[in-house]
Amino acid sequence: DKAGHRHYMSKEIAEQPGVLANALKYYTADREGRHLIEAGVDFTAYDRIVMVACGTASLACFVSKYWFEQIARIPVEIDIASEFRYREPPLNTRTLVLFVSQSGETADTLAALRYCTGKAGLILSIVNAMESSIARESDLALPILAGPEIGVASTKAFTCQLAVLAALALQAARQRGAVDAAAAQALTDQLQQVPGQVTQALAIAPQVRAVSARLARYDDVLFLGRGALYPLALEGALKLKEISYIHAEGYASGELKHGPIALIDEEMPVVVLAPHDAMFDKTVSNMQEVMARGGKIVMISDARGAARGGAGVWQQIEMPAVDGPFAAIVYAVPVQQLAYHTALERGTDVDQPRNLAKSVTVE
Ligand code: F6R
Repeated sequence: DKAGHRHYMSKEIAEQPGVLANALKYYTADREGRHLIEAGVDFTAYDRIVMVACGTASLACFVSKYWFEQIARIPVEIDIASEFRYREPPLNTRTLVLFVSQSGETADTLAALRYCTGKAGLILSIVNAMESSIARESDLALPILAGPEIGVASTKAFTCQLAVLAALALQAARQRGAVDAAAAQALTDQLQQVPGQVTQALAIAPQVRAVSARLARYDDVLFLGRGALYPLALEGALKLKEISYIHAEGYASGELKHGPIALIDEEMPVVVLAPHDAMFDKTVSNMQEVMARGGKIVMISDARGAARGGAGVWQQIEMPAVDGPFAAIVYAVPVQQLAYHTALERGTDVDQPRNLAKSVTVE
């Protein structure tokens, strides 16, 4: 049932405010400190977290590395399951291993989990399907509460994974004394604003559609971001290539001049994820480097960012203002919509992209 939508993907994108609010209600304490679900993890018992997943789920891990390290001051390693499982990585009981999987059945992720059994301090998984193998074989499985995701391209599962990971990062920060009570509350407040900001981000779909109509004419697209928006740039490129079949790559903005800038010309639009945050001016200078070489910028920012850095850009998408470290969750929305509408323009099968399966149960 697509609930009046043309595709499951658009239905699932639209469901995000509701499922995110639901997930956050479960995992973040209210002002009286009550949780509906206590995660049941003692983050003081571990020296590091190793996160393992595939595809979009691994990019959710990558985004959350910024939160766990900056907010909770706990080192995080991220790896894709197909590499992790054969590398024989050293583990010990001071290591928490965390697996993220929508389906809970991804073969490489499951094999990586089995490798860790008996070697790590805790095997924690974050899944959508609680009746899955990965959930069953973990010491502790936490649901993302996204509801069934039918579209092959992951959308609401990705943002719900991020919401749960953000809530866990805040829990880790409190337990480890990395933030004081006031800072913890301020961050919790920012996280709880995310569903409302996602609603606002959904409302700018007409802008995103207009940009997509132009983007659909190109064969190559670059995505740039800094900080937690860097892994989101990787996700933007993955989403665009998997459903529109346009070649796309994501880079950290600061890496541009170490190679990819050689590709820049008027035939390769560059999508820049640029909330007006502490890194904004650096991102603007990266945009200027692109424009100076004839590159076309699609700038996704807020009103302040557009006013300060929007001169000369090819296309602009104006987002609501999002303060704090969780902007990556809100910016996932235009990234998803850009892929969706570009794919519609090109007439590809959005819900069933060629060669892809929803659950990858073979290696
Ligand atoms: C991309 C996508 C895939 C999955 C990956 C892992 O949109 O959906 O990259 O994220 O196959 O799947 P799960 O989360 O089920 O382990």
